[in-house]
Amino acid sequence: MWKWKVTKGASAWSHLSCLSLLLALLLCSLPVACHNARRAMRSPRVTNSSMVVGRHVRSYNHLQGDVRRRKLFSFQKFFLRIDKNGKVNGTKSKDDPFSILEIKSVDVGIVAIKGLSSNYYLAISKKGELYGAKEFGTDCKLKERIEENGYNTYASAEWRNKKKPMFVGLSANGKPMRGKKTRRKNTATHFLPIVV
Ligand SMILES: *[C@@H]1O[C@H](CO)[C@@H](O)[C@H](O)[C@H]1NC(C)=O
Ligand SMILES: *[C@@H]1O[C@H](CO)[C@@H](O)[C@H](O)[C@H]1NC(C)=O
Repeated sequence: MWKWKVTKGASAWSHLSCLSLLLALLLCSLPVACHNARRAMRSPRVTNSSMVVGRHVRSYNHLQGDVRRRKLFSFQKFFLRIDKNGKVNGTKSKDDPFSILEIKSVDVGIVAIKGLSSNYYLAISKKGELYGAKEFGTDCKLKERIEENGYNTYASAEWRNKKKPMFVGLSANGKPMRGKKTRRKNTATHFLPIVV
């Protein structure tokens, strides 16, 4: 409507400037349009995962396939490490290369955690042993959940002990814990993913 009015009463000059104004508006709005289109393309997965998972999980499902490089820093101040022989334990050292991990979403709320230097996957066996697995398999599927204190827990997505979940845990002296001994409420199973 205003366009019509402006054009109608305008000289050739203002007509030109009107055109360039429109052009400028168009150019300005392009990045926004792109951004919105990208958002729209992404949103079905975001919606899906947030619906399924709810608010309890620090969820990265919309990034499915993306890899996060992190250290897992325990409540007891150990960095979880997987060494070159696939042994899992904790270290106090801030620059232990074996504590750099790659965390990847493999399903809704489920992650795989791999030692960057060792290439072993963090795994919990049926018996509840914490170990490094050379190949990705059932033992390596870990259910990531954010607990009330803001720390994450990682439970075997497959194995339970007497219907109770078995968690990744490091004892007060940095030793790997048996899944059967772990509890969600025990801080030995609490980890903060730290960006590296
Ligand atoms: C939503 O999540 C479920 C559970 O993982 C999955 O099976 C399904 O394919 C997803 N749907 C969409 C539209 O992404
Ligand atoms: C973890 O294992 C490494 C290598 O075997 C060892 O040097 C280190 O002391 C262990 N850490 C703890 C907390 O036991």
